Amino acid sequence: MKTILIDQSDGILVATINRPEKLNALNQQVFQELDELLDTAERDESVRGLILTGAGNKAFVAGADISEFAGYTSQQAEAMSRNGHRVFDRIERLSLPVIAAVNGFALGGGCELAMACHLRIASESARFGQPEINLGIIPGYGGTQRLPALVGKARALELLLTADMISAQQALEYGLVNHVVPSEELIPRSRALLLRIAEKSPLVVRRILSCVHEAVAGNRNGFEREVSEFAACMETEDFREGTQAFLEKRKPKFTGR
Ligand code: COA
Repeated sequence: MKTILIDQSDGILVATINRPEKLNALNQQVFQELDELLDTAERDESVRGLILTGAGNKAFVAGADISEFAGYTSQQAEAMSRNGHRVFDRIERLSLPVIAAVNGFALGGGCELAMACHLRIASESARFGQPEINLGIIPGYGGTQRLPALVGKARALELLLTADMISAQQALEYGLVNHVVPSEELIPRSRALLLRIAEKSPLVVRRILSCVHEAVAGNRNGFEREVSEFAACMETEDFREGTQAFLEKRKPKFTGR
């Protein structure tokens, strides 16, 4: 794999998204390799848990790769959103526990990826947010559904509507992360937690994951709506302006068209 580094020991797979020069932004290749990673995790019976993290000390994942989708039509955007939903859904439905070890910015698709994992552990420097509105789009990888499920409607709306980032400590208060630890403890603590779970019966672990998934999934009926609204954003001038402004490193001027 080119964009994901894999390290496996004691039954724990550590997968590091490795595009540090682009703050580990998710492009189509990363998605393809996430699929391969999930194939391996499902196939290999010696794997008892999975940790997802980002390369470098700045970002977990700073979002979907804006340079890749800036020119998309709504049809391409719909395919992109659907594929992202499919892969994140696979993570959420995996029969092994998955921890997002959030080592820095978890923005847009990065926050959505962390939320698709079963547990989240953040380093003290981690930052969370859904800044899509600044690009003239809505989240397209499940953010409008998983964020309210995790933090409640009012907090989710404030994050989605302001694009504000929150600190690791605030994410802990919101219930968005399970623990906040110093950065050097991030992977050891994530591994230790998965190793404790690995002592339990894998059959029972699988059943608990599946039942708890059912408990929350029923309250999220808007995934289809998110795909179609995300795709419709691509037909607007505000989407062109928002993404161009990011790529040109300037502030966008939205007109509502
Ligand atoms: N897609 C594509 N490229 C991205 C990216 C993304 N989501 N996030 C960061 N990058 C790139 C930058 O364009 C820059 O590339 P360059 O060196 O070729 O110009 C590089 O990663 C470093 O980012 P930079 O913006 O210079 O770092 P910073 O420390 O000044 O700012 C952020 C960090 C996270 C605040 C800023 O990168 C950012 O706002 N990223 C986009 C977040 C976002 O909107 N995500 C949602 C996407 S749907």
